[in-house]
Amino acid sequence: MKKEDFIIVAIDGGAASGKSSTSKILSDRLGLLYVNSGSHYRALTWAILQRGIPPHRVDKIEAFLKFLEVDYKIKGREAHMTLGACVPAEEIRSPEVNQAVSTIAAIRAVRKFLLPRQRSYVEVARQHAFDGLIMEGRDVGTVIFPEADFRFFLLADEAERTRRRQWEGQVDSIRERDRLDKERKTAPLIHSEGAIKVDTTPLTLQEVADKLTGIILAGKK
Ligand code: DC
Repeated sequence: MKKEDFIIVAIDGGAASGKSSTSKILSDRLGLLYVNSGSHYRALTWAILQRGIPPHRVDKIEAFLKFLEVDYKIKGREAHMTLGACVPAEEIRSPEVNQAVSTIAAIRAVRKFLLPRQRSYVEVARQHAFDGLIMEGRDVGTVIFPEADFRFFLLADEAERTRRRQWEGQVDSIRERDRLDKERKTAPLIHSEGAIKVDTTPLTLQEVADKLTGIILAGKK
């Protein structure tokens, strides 16, 4: 890929729609820096719960964000958000975080806090000589990078998504999280016009990855 071919790929979709696994494969195949924006909301949620702040206490959450130092660390092809000296890991996938994360992600101040940091990963990817950036989440193609070169929206049947989470050993109320993510006022989960919709229900992971890779390579010509 030539230097000027730097691409931004946005992958949005509901919980367990296949975003993370697909994004990781595309990141490997195309040399893109991978960022999971859901992990940013999860890390903040984890830190807020650790402090004993209830998810509905917007005032306390705003005060907490004023003093929070956020940075990033690159591991392989993935960029992870750091909170102070801490790189949150598997604890951000706990049932407690699953339960509170959509409430905290709906808080305007939380989204305002993360947005410029999420956008800054384009520069991070360039500085580290990646061929582009792939970011997954709920509002990547609508709010974070509406000008992305490729915008995808993944979906899958609820039964299939529940099965995927169970297979991962996770307790996750997918339906409730999707409802909260779709109904919130700021940056809701929506399929925006122009994003390519892919139903992953009948497809294997490789088939989904092949489909998206094909679209990206064809679009880059
Ligand atoms: O992708 P995930 O299921 O790990 O995301 C966890 C939560 O974070 C999700 O329920 C809503 C929120 N989120 C968001 O509001 N905006 C994003 N771009 C990514 C995630």
